[in-house]
Amino acid sequence: MSQLAFDDDTAQRLEAVYRIRDAVRRRRLVRESLRAAPGERILDVGCGPGFYCAELAEEVGRSGSIVGLDTSAPMLALAARRCERHRNVELREGDAGSLPVEHGDFDAAVCVQVLEYLPDATAALVEMRRALRPGGRVVVWDVDWATLSVNSDDGPRSERVLAAWDKHLAHPSLPHTLASRLRAAGFADVGMQGHLFATAEFDPETYGTATVSVIASFVAGREGVGAPEAEAWLAEQRALGERGEFYFAVSQFCFNAVNPSSGSTTA
Ligand SMILES: C[S@@+](CC[C@H](N)C(=O)[O-])C[C@H]1O[C@@H](n2cnc3c(N)ncnc32)[C@H](O)[C@@H]1O
Repeated sequence: MSQLAFDDDTAQRLEAVYRIRDAVRRRRLVRESLRAAPGERILDVGCGPGFYCAELAEEVGRSGSIVGLDTSAPMLALAARRCERHRNVELREGDAGSLPVEHGDFDAAVCVQVLEYLPDATAALVEMRRALRPGGRVVVWDVDWATLSVNSDDGPRSERVLAAWDKHLAHPSLPHTLASRLRAAGFADVGMQGHLFATAEFDPETYGTATVSVIASFVAGREGVGAPEAEAWLAEQRALGERGEFYFAVSQFCFNAVNPSSGSTTA
């Protein structure tokens, strides 16, 4: 079964999700880890609808620049609209596994919830290192979907739904191996911070409430979960919310590392 496609429908759905309070919190955490400085040139790999591009453009100022890169034309169209007033943002269609950028052209790279979709995530890290100058920084954020837990009165149905959701990407638990992959790609000073996204409210501003809708629409018709079963699962989540019994938690991980000043350069 195919994983999540970043088509028109998904692009618009994710753009709406990225406006909520929890998404704003996540971007703040990423930007704090990246520490962009005025004048820097930053690469956003898998830029999606361009929220990071626009926000980082403010941080680096007119003397700095941002290149946002994505494989999805609908995502790039949304990013172009979001960044139209930022002359220091350039958007490129391109693949994380073979970046259309010069060697050592960037001070920093950011890659949020992209590598978990790539069968060869390490190859993309090698590419990001190639794009960085010696001493350049990388920040990579991914979700450990194995930590996802929800409340449900129908455990077997919920397990079927979440098992089908695991097929939406290549690596349901990429954070387990991200530190070693970063080192294998030649990065040094690898650090990791875990962040819990949890809510007991069916509040549209939370990652949990936004995510259960995305899950229900993805799993319908996959892995033996029919559309009625997916709808019933989502209806239960809403009903739990109305009764004050909703619960959603998932752990997300922010990795940072540095391209060493000396040592082998990877082609
Ligand atoms: C979950 S979205 C994250 C978007 C953005 N990083 C953010 O957090 O706002 C994943 C993005 O990765 C992009 N993507 C998936 N595979 C890619 C690849 N091989 N190369 C570049 N981008 C890719 C998708 O098109 C999508 O925009």
